[in-house]
Amino acid sequence: MSEERIVSTHESADEDAIERSLRPHRLNDYIGQTAVKSQLAVYIQAAQKREEALDHVLLYGPPGLGKTTLALVIATELSVNIRTTSGPAIEKPGDLVALLNELQPGDVLFIDEIHRLPKIVEEMLYSAMEDYYIDIVVGQGPTAHPVHFPLPPFTLIGATTRAGMLSAPLRDRFGITEHMAYYQDAELQEIVLRSAGIFDMALPTDSALEIARRSRGTPRIANRLLKRIRDFADVAESSVTVPIVDHALDQLQVDDRGLDAIDRKLLMMMIRDYAGGPVGLSTIAANIGEETATIEEMYEPYLLQIGFLKRTPRGRMVTPAGFAHLDMPYQTN
Ligand SMILES: Nc1ncnc2c1ncn2[C@@H]1O[C@H](COP(=O)(O)OP(=O)(O)OP(=O)(O)O)[C@@H](O)[C@H]1O
Ligand SMILES: [Mg+2]
Repeated sequence: MSEERIVSTHESADEDAIERSLRPHRLNDYIGQTAVKSQLAVYIQAAQKREEALDHVLLYGPPGLGKTTLALVIATELSVNIRTTSGPAIEKPGDLVALLNELQPGDVLFIDEIHRLPKIVEEMLYSAMEDYYIDIVVGQGPTAHPVHFPLPPFTLIGATTRAGMLSAPLRDRFGITEHMAYYQDAELQEIVLRSAGIFDMALPTDSALEIARRSRGTPRIANRLLKRIRDFADVAESSVTVPIVDHALDQLQVDDRGLDAIDRKLLMMMIRDYAGGPVGLSTIAANIGEETATIEEMYEPYLLQIGFLKRTPRGRMVTPAGFAHLDMPYQTN
């Protein structure tokens, strides 16, 4: 279900190529995340000066905020190769060995969804990260013997939407940890203006700001809305005016705060059936037919961020602002 959401933060296969074309390549073209960027710029320069591999980097934050893009940017800035993979794709130690085996000194290994690494693979990473070696067992049965396998110095960049799901030993081996925050409207405005330029599409700045305001602080969503709006404008043979933006987003059921039908369903269910809560995560999930992880990673963070939901020890609660957004009279339990 979440795959079909216009405000879904996940990428779909056919969007891959477009997403790639919209990716900035250098730190200077990477919009927003100013604190993260300025820190990384220093670490990158220092590593280059010392001719060492950059310390391992952990990037965490909600989906679609540019973690993968940033990993690619870091490799470009370091002028090194990057191998990209993801936690679930590395099923067994041999898969990791194959990846590590291809690294040249200073290269970047990017592991997306690093919280989903199998335990046995994760444990192999410890020595690889800390001292650049792995011990592997070669052969089977009585002929099995350990082999010490040295690695070139390399940089592991891990990305996760759930820093809390990383084990402490893994987390501690990242010298650099960066939290990606939701983007400001002005930053998203700049991002869609840049994307419109790449699409060769005329986009007035006020329309860009309107798209930004309705993009949940998320570049991936901003770019996706931009593409849909371009379709509406093309069909209407109109330029991308603010009324066209509003019309398109209304048709897509994306409201003035960027919430879609499912977000509103979630809030409304909590208000109607539970007087605004507290409601447990699993109850919410069961009521709207999604998995708890999906709610936690995709729906809830933004609702918490804009203050429509809050977390309490007894469960999630809709805030007065959340009630107001749905035009419902506030009630307390
Ligand atoms: N700072 C930025 N400046 C310009 N464009 C950006 C920026 N961050 C992200 N984007 C755009 O948003 C899209 C999504 O970014 P990206 O794939 O890097 O997100 P992500 O955090 O890796 O998401 P996920 O958690 O789903 O893997 C990219 O195609 C890119 O065009
Ligand atoms: Mg990614």
